[in-house]
Amino acid sequence: MNQKRSLPARLAAALVFLVAMYVSAGAATIDLEIAETRVELRPGLSTDAWTYGGSVPGRPIVVRPGERVTVNVLNRLAGATNVHWHGLQVPIDQDGPGISIGPGERFTYSFVPKRTGTYWHHPHVRPVLDQLDRGLYGAFIVEAAEDARYSGDSVFILDDWHLDASGRRLPGTGRGMMERMGNVETVNGKTGDAVAPLVVAAGELHKLRFINASTAAEHRLRATGHRFRITHTDGEPLAEPYFADEIRLNPGERVDAELAAGGQPGAAYEIASDRPGLGIRIPIRYRTDRVPAVASPFVPPAQRAYPDIFAARPDRTLTLDSRMGSAAGGGMRRGMGHGMHGGSSAAGEASGMAWTINGAAFPETEPIGVQVGKVVKLRLRNQDTGMMHPMDHPIHLHGTHFLIVSRNGFRPDRETWKDTVTVPAGEFVDIAFVMENPGDWMLHCHIIDHEDGGMMTMVEAR
Ligand code: C2O
Ligand code: CU
Repeated sequence: MNQKRSLPARLAAALVFLVAMYVSAGAATIDLEIAETRVELRPGLSTDAWTYGGSVPGRPIVVRPGERVTVNVLNRLAGATNVHWHGLQVPIDQDGPGISIGPGERFTYSFVPKRTGTYWHHPHVRPVLDQLDRGLYGAFIVEAAEDARYSGDSVFILDDWHLDASGRRLPGTGRGMMERMGNVETVNGKTGDAVAPLVVAAGELHKLRFINASTAAEHRLRATGHRFRITHTDGEPLAEPYFADEIRLNPGERVDAELAAGGQPGAAYEIASDRPGLGIRIPIRYRTDRVPAVASPFVPPAQRAYPDIFAARPDRTLTLDSRMGSAAGGGMRRGMGHGMHGGSSAAGEASGMAWTINGAAFPETEPIGVQVGKVVKLRLRNQDTGMMHPMDHPIHLHGTHFLIVSRNGFRPDRETWKDTVTVPAGEFVDIAFVMENPGDWMLHCHIIDHEDGGMMTMVEAR
């Protein structure tokens, strides 16, 4: 995780790394204090955020695979919270939703990440919107050996805020309809001219990790004068990396890409979103020197799709939809809901909408029973095509990655593993996975208004 460093700095860092490895013998301890903090999005625009460790985003947690990670959480907020390790395979009692850390309380998470990749962490107390949207998120990087061979390795977490001119948090949505979308967009907690540049030298090869922490907004990124080479989706390496002009990220999704610095020494370029005026603009600034071209250290994994899965019948179909009228009754009232069993939600109440799976809103949705170790094929069908408000739904599954088996019955262009997949309105996506750990794993839309509003169920692995 470095921007360009000088040779002595790199040697010093390598030495520190070696000493740390020797001393700690593969253990990382992180103290994570959760508190309200005023943060500056740009000079002249500050807002009262909720933070991991005093900043938005929280400092990236960077560990190595196989290393035991201990996170000591202290909750200084006025209400309960918890931390979910999005995309990481952890035991069910460390996953987040079942845990409630009250005001002033401490909780220690402990787990061993096995797979390398780009993950992230955020709260999972319902209503999740009230917490994630205030800035509680951070990257979680499990480093691969080859990552160090890039000229630089940078994380870019994208988010949006709905604020008035003085930085006060506004209710509702800044654009769009029922989903909360902001009028200020940020990269690593900064907007517009305050976004830190990516500094490169001609010839270098940079690893870029993009994470969408927005609660509802999709972000589409393009780079002037450069193409991306996509190597990972949601932390999973691609058997066939590919070049792309655009990266699209729905809430919860991550993309790792290589950027070859093929521009002119001294020149300036930028990576910008499709709404650059809202503030997601990452300058690419070239130093004046040039280095010998750096080759990609990325070694694609072998293909590992489940045999015969394409022709197999789905074990279950989940139909995604919405309807007027708040989430089905039986849940707790707003403010009481925490952990897995909060029923109605801020979003549902505010918009008068319920977001449903097979006609029911969580907690009334039917759980999906699966066997540990057995391949499961699910069809996710998005029927949410109402003329007023057709919505794509990025569906996230806890506890494992899944294979994209088909889209609308067609084989995808390449083998892709993800933990969050966008199901466009009117379309269907088939996914397949194996649950390796027993537990009740959540499956939900990562548009948090929809998740809080009922589009959630459990995959119960036994
Ligand atoms: Cu990123 Cu269940 O969440
Ligand atoms: Cu949704």
